Amino acid sequence: MAVLVTGAGSGIGRAIAERFVRDGHEVIGVDVSAAGLAGTAAAAGSMHTVECDIRDERAVIELFAELDRSGRAVSVLINNAGIGTAATIVATTVEQWQSMFDVNCLGMFLMCRAALARMLPAGAGVIVNVSSVAGLVGLRERAAYCASKSAVIGLTRAIAVDHASDGIRCNAIAPGTVDTPWVDRILSDKPDKEQARRDMERRQLTGRMGTAQEVAAGVAFLASPEASYMNGSVLIMDGGMTAV
Ligand SMILES: NC(=O)c1ccc[n+]([C@@H]2O[C@H](COP(=O)([O-])OP(=O)(O)OC[C@H]3O[C@@H](n4cnc5c(N)ncnc54)[C@H](O)[C@@H]3O)[C@@H](O)[C@H]2O)c1
Repeated sequence: MAVLVTGAGSGIGRAIAERFVRDGHEVIGVDVSAAGLAGTAAAAGSMHTVECDIRDERAVIELFAELDRSGRAVSVLINNAGIGTAATIVATTVEQWQSMFDVNCLGMFLMCRAALARMLPAGAGVIVNVSSVAGLVGLRERAAYCASKSAVIGLTRAIAVDHASDGIRCNAIAPGTVDTPWVDRILSDKPDKEQARRDMERRQLTGRMGTAQEVAAGVAFLASPEASYMNGSVLIMDGGMTAV
């Protein structure tokens, strides 16, 4: 019984991997970045890591084949890997649109398909998909990102509808702004980084960004038997950002 976390090499994914290791689970960390995975493994202690680009169908098939060979059965899949670009639709290139959908949606589809092929015969399994408040409301200069994160919620509900009767639960989490290397990248090209950071903090009613550990706690809850009556749901964890 293992928990597979994508995007485990940084930010929220790293915190999720650390959380599940701490809770005593066997964790498989997947990321396109070997250096990121090494950092997470060092921080988490004991965990299996696999370098894999989730956009690559063959790589995902091989990832699960290798897990089968090594006797690792994925009972919990956390689809966390994601990328974003800050742009209005007018400023978005086809390449940016495509790459966001490749990671945030195609990669998630490939991971769900491969995991479900093993969960269905087992008659049990839990999937948690990391969406965003951007999947629920429009955020400024996040056109492609909002579209891709809405698609994550649609996929989540479709899996729940198709496979609830097979013993599968599939839920999404929608974090607000979370202080990770991702935010640092968005701020890096702003002329006044401190002001831009304060503006991002003010979007939350709490006046601060969330921590990766807070999101990991929400994911751990959705994956646990405590959330046994949640299926096809979206857990909003945004410091009140979408309450306004
Ligand atoms: N940080 C935020 O404010 C925030 C808010 C809401 C939702 N999210 C979502 O949370 C998730 C994690 O975000 P984060 O802030 O930790 O970002 P991050 O950039 O710190 O980490 C993302 C990780 O995903 C990995 N990754 C990217 N493309 C990949 C691919 N093709 N295959 C495998 N791994 C890949 C990266 O190498 C990286 O380790 C994303 O899905 C993001 O959309 C983030």
